[in-house]
Amino acid sequence: MVITMRDPYLMHGGDYNPEQWLAMPEILEQDIDRFLEAGINTVTLGVFSWAKLEPKEGIYDFDWLAERIDKLYEKGISVILATPSGARPHWLAERYPQVLRVDERGKRQLFGGRHNHCLTSPVYREKVGRIDRKLAERFGAHPAVKLWHISNELGGDCHCGLCQAAFRNWLRERYQTIENLNDRWCTTFWSHTYDSFDQVEAPSAIGESSLMALNLDWKRFVTDQTISFVEQEIRAIHEGGSDKPTTVNMMYRFEGLDYGKLAGAVDLVSWDSYPLWHKESEWDTARDTAFWHDVMRGLKKKPFLLMESCPSSTNWQSVSKLKKPGMLEASSLQSIAHGSQGVLYFQMRQSRGASEKFHGAVIDHYGGSDTRTFREVCGVGRMLGKLGELAGCTTGSRVAILYDWDNLWAMKNAQGPRNKGLHYEECVDKSYRALRRLGLNVDIIDQSASLEGYRFAAAPMQYLFRPGFAQKIRSFVETGGTFVMTYWSGVVDENDRCFLGGRPADLTDVFGLRALEIDGLYDEEENAALTLEPEAGRPGWLSFMKERYACKYLCELVSPLGARPLMVYGKDFYAGEPALLRNSCGKGLAYYICADMEQKFYDDLYENLIAEAGITSGWNLEIPEGVEICSRENEDFVYWFVQNYNRYEVKVQLPQGDVIFGDKKGELRPFGSVILRVKKTL
Ligand code: GLA
Ligand code: ZN
Repeated sequence: MVITMRDPYLMHGGDYNPEQWLAMPEILEQDIDRFLEAGINTVTLGVFSWAKLEPKEGIYDFDWLAERIDKLYEKGISVILATPSGARPHWLAERYPQVLRVDERGKRQLFGGRHNHCLTSPVYREKVGRIDRKLAERFGAHPAVKLWHISNELGGDCHCGLCQAAFRNWLRERYQTIENLNDRWCTTFWSHTYDSFDQVEAPSAIGESSLMALNLDWKRFVTDQTISFVEQEIRAIHEGGSDKPTTVNMMYRFEGLDYGKLAGAVDLVSWDSYPLWHKESEWDTARDTAFWHDVMRGLKKKPFLLMESCPSSTNWQSVSKLKKPGMLEASSLQSIAHGSQGVLYFQMRQSRGASEKFHGAVIDHYGGSDTRTFREVCGVGRMLGKLGELAGCTTGSRVAILYDWDNLWAMKNAQGPRNKGLHYEECVDKSYRALRRLGLNVDIIDQSASLEGYRFAAAPMQYLFRPGFAQKIRSFVETGGTFVMTYWSGVVDENDRCFLGGRPADLTDVFGLRALEIDGLYDEEENAALTLEPEAGRPGWLSFMKERYACKYLCELVSPLGARPLMVYGKDFYAGEPALLRNSCGKGLAYYICADMEQKFYDDLYENLIAEAGITSGWNLEIPEGVEICSRENEDFVYWFVQNYNRYEVKVQLPQGDVIFGDKKGELRPFGSVILRVKKTL
C-alpha cells in the first residue's frame, strides 16, 4: 500500500516522545508551535512508551496519548503510531523472566536496554498482542493515524529453551527426517552426526559452530521467528479493528535479518539512515547512502520511507560530527530522489536525561526556534511543502544489482578463500558506482526477485545459489539480457554444500566457462588484467578499454568452454589466462569477471556494456564527478534530481524542462540541488 497515493504530500517529521514531558505541559504546547513553524506534518508516537501506556499489568492509561493525537490532528499533523514492543516495562520482566533474552552461552540477561526480549516467549507475545489490540481499538480508526510502526529496529537472537525448541520444530518441518538433515548439513564431517532433532542446539561459541549449514539455518530461523512476531503484532492490530498499513524500520548494513523476507510481512519498507558525513569525502558517503536507499526501494520495488535521520549529530557514532550547513537539505532530498515518501528525523525534541540526551533533535534543550538546526529543518519543511507532486512517484529502472542475505551469510561464514577479507561490499559497490555514474537508476534486488523488466543485471560474488536462481539467469540471458557475474559465484547450494560437477553451477554453458581454482592474494599483492587486442569477431569497443587494470585480493582461474577471453592476467603462474570473458547465449550476453578489479575497470566496462545493450538513463548531458543524478516519474512527468556532493560549486548543464527547485542555470553550490520537471513525450 502506498500511503501517499491518497495523500499528495511528502511526510516531514519524526520520532516524538511526549511521554517524557507529561509533567511539563508548557513544553508540549511549545512543541506544537515549533512543529507548525517547521512544516512538520507527521510524527511517530509511542515507540518506547509501554511503561506509560500500561503502568501496571492490565492497567492501561491511553488518555495522555489520545490527547496528544487529538491536538496534533487539530493542527493538521498526522501520526505514525508505534507498537511499544521495542522495550518492555520493569513489571513485565520481573513477573515473567522468560521475556528476557538468553545469550549463546546460556546466560539470561538482566532487565535493561531495549530490543533484547525473547521473540518466542508466549508471555511476551501475549502481552504485546494485548496492548497492540487495545491501541488499535482506541486509535486505529483515528483520522490522524496513517501508519503502524511495528516495534523498532528488530534484530538479535535469543538462545533460551523456548527458542531452541522452536528452532527444532522449524528444522523438523524443513527436513522431515534427521537423516535428511545430516545429509544436507554434511554432519559426517568431524563425526557431528545427529541421532535426533532433540540433539540440535543453536550455534554457539561454546558449542557447535563449525557446521556452516546450521549457522545458516539459525539465521533463517531467526528471520522467520522475527517475521512471525511481526505478523502476530499485525494480527492483533487487525483484531483491534484497524486495517491501516504497517511498516518496520530497517537499518544500514544490518546483517542479522533477511530484509528481503522481512519486507514481505509489511506494507511499506522504512529505514533509519545515519551516514557519517564530512569524513574524507561527501561524495563517497553520498554514494554509500544512495546504495542503501536503493536497497530499501528494491525490497518491494516500491517507494519507501526514511523513518529516521539526524537533524544535526548523533551521540553514538565514534565522533559526533555536526551536519555542515546545507547537508541536511542535501541528504533529505537525496532520500526523496531515491524513492522516499518523506523525511523523518530522530528526534523531534531532545530528551532531558538518560542515554540519548545529546542526540541531535529538531528542538534542543534550549527550546527556541533561533537555532541553526531548527532553521535548517524549517528549510527542509518549506522545500518538501513545495514538492507534494512527487508523492507517489515511482522509480523506473532497467538495471539491477543482486544483493542477497542468504548469500552474504554463507559467504562470510565460509572458511576461505580469504579469511582476511573477501571485500564483498566493495565488490558490490564498484558495480553500483559504475552504473550510477551513468545516471542510471539502479534496483538492488535479492535472488528471489524477478529479473523481468531489466535489460542488464550484475551479480557480484553470488557464492550461494538459491534454488531457481541459475534458471532465472539462464532465461534472462537467453531472452536477450546482458548478465555480468563475478568470481566466486555458484559455489554452494542453499545448505552451503558445494555443487559437484563444475561452477558456476548449472551455468557453465551460459557463461561458456568453468571456474577451476581461486587464488587469495596478500593485502600488498596485486595482479593485472590486460586487454587483448580487438580482432575480427571481438567487440570493437574493447579498444576503448585501457590496456591494463589492477586487480587485488582474489583471482579466479577459469577454463573457457566457448567463451571469448577479452582480458588476461598479467603475471604469476596464470599470466595469460583469462581475466574477463564474454559468451553469447541465446539472444543475450553473459560476461564473467574473474578477479577483484579496480573501480576504473568497472566504470569503463559498464559504460560499454550499457551502450551495447542500448540502455540510456534519459540524461544525455555530462554528469560531472561528485554529482548525483536520479529520476522519479509519474504518468506525465520525469523529475530529475541533480545534487552536488563536491566541496566546490559546479555548473551542470540542464536539459529543457521546469526547474521546480534550485538554481535555474544549474549552478550548484556545495551540497546544492536542482529538481527539474520534464514532460513525458508520447
Ligand atoms: C535508532 C533508534 C532510535 C534512536 C536512534 C538514535 O535508529 O531506532 O530509537 O535510538 O537510533 O540514532
Ligand atoms: Zn528465547
